[in-house]
Amino acid sequence: MNEEKQSRISWMDVLWLLFLLGLAALPPVWERHKQLVLLAIGVVQLAEGRIIANWPRYGRSLVVLIKILLATLLINHTGELGINSSYYPIYYVPIVTAAIHFGSWGTLLWTALASAAYCSYLYPALQEYTLTPTGAAELAIRIMFFFLAAMVVNRFTLENRRKTTQYQQVAEQLTEVNRQLERAQAEARRSERLAALGQLSAGLAHEIRNPLGVIKGSAETLNRKLEDSNPLASELAGYISSEVNRASALVTRFLDFARPLRIETRLLRVTDLLDQALKSVAEQWKGEPIVVQREYQGDLPLVPLDENLCEQVFLNLVQNAYEAMGEDGGTFRVEVSGTSSNGRKGVQVRLKDTGPGVPAEMREQIFNPFVTTKKTGVGLGLSIVSKIVDEHHGTIRLEKSDEKGAGFVIFFPVEEEAGQGAGGS
Ligand SMILES: Nc1ncnc2c1ncn2[C@@H]1O[C@H](COP(=O)(O)OP(=O)(O)O)[C@@H](O)[C@H]1O
Ligand SMILES: [Mg+2]
Repeated sequence: MNEEKQSRISWMDVLWLLFLLGLAALPPVWERHKQLVLLAIGVVQLAEGRIIANWPRYGRSLVVLIKILLATLLINHTGELGINSSYYPIYYVPIVTAAIHFGSWGTLLWTALASAAYCSYLYPALQEYTLTPTGAAELAIRIMFFFLAAMVVNRFTLENRRKTTQYQQVAEQLTEVNRQLERAQAEARRSERLAALGQLSAGLAHEIRNPLGVIKGSAETLNRKLEDSNPLASELAGYISSEVNRASALVTRFLDFARPLRIETRLLRVTDLLDQALKSVAEQWKGEPIVVQREYQGDLPLVPLDENLCEQVFLNLVQNAYEAMGEDGGTFRVEVSGTSSNGRKGVQVRLKDTGPGVPAEMREQIFNPFVTTKKTGVGLGLSIVSKIVDEHHGTIRLEKSDEKGAGFVIFFPVEEEAGQGAGGS
């Protein structure tokens, strides 16, 4: 695109050069001033783009003004009487320039000024000659053509400019729609994966639970029976029992995750739930100190939320943020504001920490179950969060930004609309 533009400019420059050379080769060839003026016109023409870019405010006026002056000088050096010079069409140069760069009134004004500059040669001419009716008519015709050219070029440029703006707007809209589509697709993919994994783990967990119960029961019986006669075997049986307990707890969590959620909403203040979660995590926190910065917009609407589930959402997210900043401490920014997303009114919560952030290759996956980078993590936190937010017809996304740390943006709609924003789940 850029290249194309550049090559078009240089093509125009060549045309200008040929045009000015042509004028230079025409009589009066030995008139030094005429050739100098032509040279100056060439220079201004070449520098025009740069002048306008450097002085966006006055550049256009400056260029047109200089061109009018040069045209007037050229006329003076190409005829006995300036007004009779056959070079008078040189005024088309400033006139067309004005028509390209100004609106309708600006163009009319500059054309009037160029015409006035041309007519100024009437004054010396009238000192020696009188103006015949034919002469006056000729002059009027020339000036009328100045205006005609100006208005035609101006109309054309304005129309062109309007179309360009229109295309730009359409292009911007398309980009936005594209972005929304990509987001929706990613969300749909996530929901599909969640559903499939959820079913699988539910089935598996269910099947594993029964044998686990039997193993645990047997180990406890063994433990009791062997308590005195064989301490080693008894100790081993104790391990079996405690490990089975762990496995059983894990299975219960899987099942919790896989079970369809039954949400019971009430109109609640998002900030209350958030404060509750912030308080519980901070109370249990044993790592480096973390500063919490709250920015809650006043007058926030109440949102239909399931109290327990949403507190769980915030607990998981806040816990993750604290764990991410655990080593060096940091600042946790919590912003809540009323906004609209895809034409739905709602409340947006933005949680931004100053931890290491989420690596690019993990962005797509972190909402999937069992994705974790922590030694003792299970990787269910965010998938549960995402499931709960989906159930509320809300959205959650990880911000893309160059700032340090991870930023999660959650949106809860104010009105529950059946089938709206279920995120493909
Ligand atoms: N605030 C955060 N900053 C950096 N990484 C995060 C953050 N929150 C989540 N993650 C990444 O996403 C993974 C999944 O989180 P989660 O589903 O809560 O599981 P878990 O906390 O058990 O690892 C984490 O292991 C971590 O790598
Ligand atoms: Mg977690």
